[in-house]
Amino acid sequence: MEKEFRISYTELTGKNDLDQIDHDLVKRAEEALKHAYADYSRFYVGAAVLLENGVIITGNNQENVAYPSGICAERVALFYASSQYPNVKIKTLAVMAKSIKFSPQMPVSPCGSCRQVITEYEQKYTSPIKIIMASEDGKIIITNNAKSLLPFVFEASLKS
Ligand code: THU
Repeated sequence: MEKEFRISYTELTGKNDLDQIDHDLVKRAEEALKHAYADYSRFYVGAAVLLENGVIITGNNQENVAYPSGICAERVALFYASSQYPNVKIKTLAVMAKSIKFSPQMPVSPCGSCRQVITEYEQKYTSPIKIIMASEDGKIIITNNAKSLLPFVFEASLKS
């Protein structure tokens, strides 16, 4: 039997089409990317996570001369959020990138490892995480959960 995955998402032409909360979150992601430590790729990424209690946690990519030791902005923000607020649901993640080498006209979307991480927090809190992917030219893509971005996600549950 043939089956298929379908992904639905929203595309906006500018930040002004966002509601106030999401607009502020994208702004926080944009501010965060200014402090990225990305001397090797010069690809500056900022992420902002909105928790259910209204707290916003931001992060940016952190690179290292030993390249694989670096980590994406999304995971910096998510891991910090989870370490400081272990029992508070994560509602939304906004991400934005700037680069002098590349022209990130398309909104930046979380890499595969980040999708795996976001999906696990969705499972932990049994609650979808909205992802707002923003770009310099204003175009924005929104998905209502991470799971749809990662078909056949790796899931392992402990035997009871
Ligand atoms: N990067 C992120 O921080 N988030 C993404 O969604 C894509 C990639 C970082 C990793 C690395 O520091 C740089 O961007 C270039 O890949």
